[in-house]
Amino acid sequence: MQRIGVMTSGGDAPGMNAAIRAVVRKAVFHGIEVMGIRRGFNGFIEGDMALLHSGSVGGIIQRGGTVLFSARSPEFTTPAGRKKAWENVIRFGLQGLVAIGGDGTFHGVRAFHREYGLPVACIPATIDNDIVGTDYAVGFDTAVNNVVDAVDKIKDTATSHERTFVIEVMGRASGHIALAAGLAGGAESILVPERPVNIEDVCARLIRGHRRGKEHSIIIVAEGAGSALDIGLAIKERTGFDTKVTILGHLQRGGTPSVFDRNLASRMGFRAVEMLMDGDTPAMVGWLKGEIVSQDLDSVLVQPRPADGGLYRLADILSM
Ligand code: F6P
Repeated sequence: MQRIGVMTSGGDAPGMNAAIRAVVRKAVFHGIEVMGIRRGFNGFIEGDMALLHSGSVGGIIQRGGTVLFSARSPEFTTPAGRKKAWENVIRFGLQGLVAIGGDGTFHGVRAFHREYGLPVACIPATIDNDIVGTDYAVGFDTAVNNVVDAVDKIKDTATSHERTFVIEVMGRASGHIALAAGLAGGAESILVPERPVNIEDVCARLIRGHRRGKEHSIIIVAEGAGSALDIGLAIKERTGFDTKVTILGHLQRGGTPSVFDRNLASRMGFRAVEMLMDGDTPAMVGWLKGEIVSQDLDSVLVQPRPADGGLYRLADILSM
């Protein structure tokens, strides 16, 4: 193997840079050249790529976002778009690809692999943490820390005014961020798409807490479970409590990656290159029960990984 490509695609996730760095340094160690493909599949289609050296990835391990830029590419979902990308594989002499992203990215590279046979190794990197075959995706830990940091700050003002806050977090159709941040942030209620939302129950808990003298209440709503604005209104109407809504939005995805994410990304990037060298493709690197593993790509694309029901029950009891 003489030359491979690396790209980041879909929503950026903190730790992507650490993964890029690991891929480049590990490949260079084995004498393999690495082309950095910019703006995800768009750069693949347009041939927007350049050679990366060990020095090109210096000083990026601590930076959030992705130095290769990212995008969602409707054109790559078409056979015509993928054909253009294949022409660039030939033009630039790529013999393998490391794709860093979430399930949208993986669906794209799987289709590409099926049509053209390019060996692909995937690294799960999405704050949503909804990928089957790995306990953690790169970026999730940092995003949860960002959310908890915001929740702690909101609690200060919530307590001062004895208010109820409804805080909306990201996660697309999954409740992993809401659940982990709600547990760590001591939320009174956590609403996730994996469970039916029961506003009466949320209000009953709030009223019980209020009677026991709670000075503030925090409800964490995963974006896939409903609109925080609507939920805030419904709570205000039913309880009469002073209720405010905060939508955390993209601040969750930014900032310095946590130590966990940097190390996870480094280990995954290292392994992804080994998988390409060993012909263990098409596959995804996973982190299961504390071990780096290789997962067949088809097996991880069956469905999104739902948030842990056991954790939900635990958070429910602890917040009473
Ligand atoms: O998939 C990551 C994610 O941050 C989701 O949690 C969120 O729904 C989505 O991306 C937002 O996408 P965009 O940045 O394109 O608005």
